[in-house]
Amino acid sequence: MAIDARRTALVALLVCSAAVAVSAISDGPLPNGNFEDPPNQSQMRGGSVVTGEHAIPFWKTSGFVEYICSGQTQGDMILTVPEGAHAVRLGNDACIQQQVSLTRGMYYALTFSASRTCAQDEVLNMTTVPVSGGYPGQSGDLPIQTVYASSGWDSYSWAFKAEAGLMTIIIHNSGQQEDPACGPIIDAFAIRKLYPPEPTQNNMLRNGDFEEGPYIPAGSPWGVLVPPMDEDHVSPLPGWMIMSYKKVVKYVDSGHFAVPHGARAVELVSGVETALMQEVYTTVEGSWYRLEFSVGDAANGCAPSSDYSSPGGMKVKASAGMDDTTVDINFGGSGGCTRGKLEFKAKGSPTRVVFVSMGYHTKSDSSGTLCGPVVDDVSLVPIPQPYSRRLLL
Ligand SMILES: *[C@@H]1O[C@H](CO)[C@@H](O)[C@H](O)[C@H]1NC(C)=O
Ligand SMILES: *[C@@H]1O[C@H](CO)[C@@H](O)[C@H](O)[C@H]1NC(C)=O
Repeated sequence: MAIDARRTALVALLVCSAAVAVSAISDGPLPNGNFEDPPNQSQMRGGSVVTGEHAIPFWKTSGFVEYICSGQTQGDMILTVPEGAHAVRLGNDACIQQQVSLTRGMYYALTFSASRTCAQDEVLNMTTVPVSGGYPGQSGDLPIQTVYASSGWDSYSWAFKAEAGLMTIIIHNSGQQEDPACGPIIDAFAIRKLYPPEPTQNNMLRNGDFEEGPYIPAGSPWGVLVPPMDEDHVSPLPGWMIMSYKKVVKYVDSGHFAVPHGARAVELVSGVETALMQEVYTTVEGSWYRLEFSVGDAANGCAPSSDYSSPGGMKVKASAGMDDTTVDINFGGSGGCTRGKLEFKAKGSPTRVVFVSMGYHTKSDSSGTLCGPVVDDVSLVPIPQPYSRRLLL
């Protein structure tokens, strides 16, 4: 007995020390994720071109990679960086990668900043692959196309499952521009472990309050974009999918935006081109349900753009299966929210719950920054068949 207990304790100790030796990364910036640790100068050419694959601490590079210093010029363009004084630029087909130690089986969201430089339509190919072990990698394209913040910088998120304890994260500029040096500048890489919430007694939806999502850097005033994804991709917003060809939604925090409930919400910044969607597999054909949600004004000076929508206010269409309702708000860009409600009879399962902004909006500061209504605090519950409908049906 006593020996067994001691052996157990010893094994536990060994497991613990092994765990310390390869301790999983914690939420926050990746090692040298902001590229402020300078590269080895003997592996650089002409002051900025990286020639050695291990020149940048904690990263490995291949192809035409430039180390960018804030204020550096290219022709008559002044390059800026989103965090600190340094960033990197990936030319045609260039790659940058880092190995990270994670908890196997858990889901993670990466957050990083990117800006286009010369090309209109740039794409980053994101891949995560186990360092060893023969599991397939996961990859996806991230369009770096529309600028959503007046700074010219946007923060993007991308999520994956840690198929192994040691994973390589690869960012590849898969674009082919005429000028091989053209390509996105990237910076401020951070990671967050996701804890996908389950449905509860009070809500058949998962993560209905959007409290679970990608890392938002503490100093970042512009939220984090969540790109469109295929059905088989891991969502940075657990429970929810972003359905669009190339457009995004924006994940916002109460530190910088008016959020109807809790600390996080989703701003619909791409009008009818993007849907925020969750599939609910527990609805039963012929049963009644009530969908409730908040539609808010993020207090970011968001106004309707003159060329697209009707003047005054913003509009969100919420649908559940074949039924829908539209909520109008008009708080003049200074915050506030309204509850919306939809009672419906399920046609079966799954039921798709979808939110779409019906207009295009930009901030009234004439910066051209895209914005829109926020959606938050969404719940779905079963209800008895409403009395009025009993008479009708
Ligand atoms: C810098 O790179 C050179 C050439 O590859 C190498 O010999 C040297 O050890 C490196 N310095 C550091 C500090 O890593
Ligand atoms: C993205 O990169 C991965 C690995 O390099 C590759 O397998 C995949 O085909 C690429 N996807 C696209 C769309 O280029």
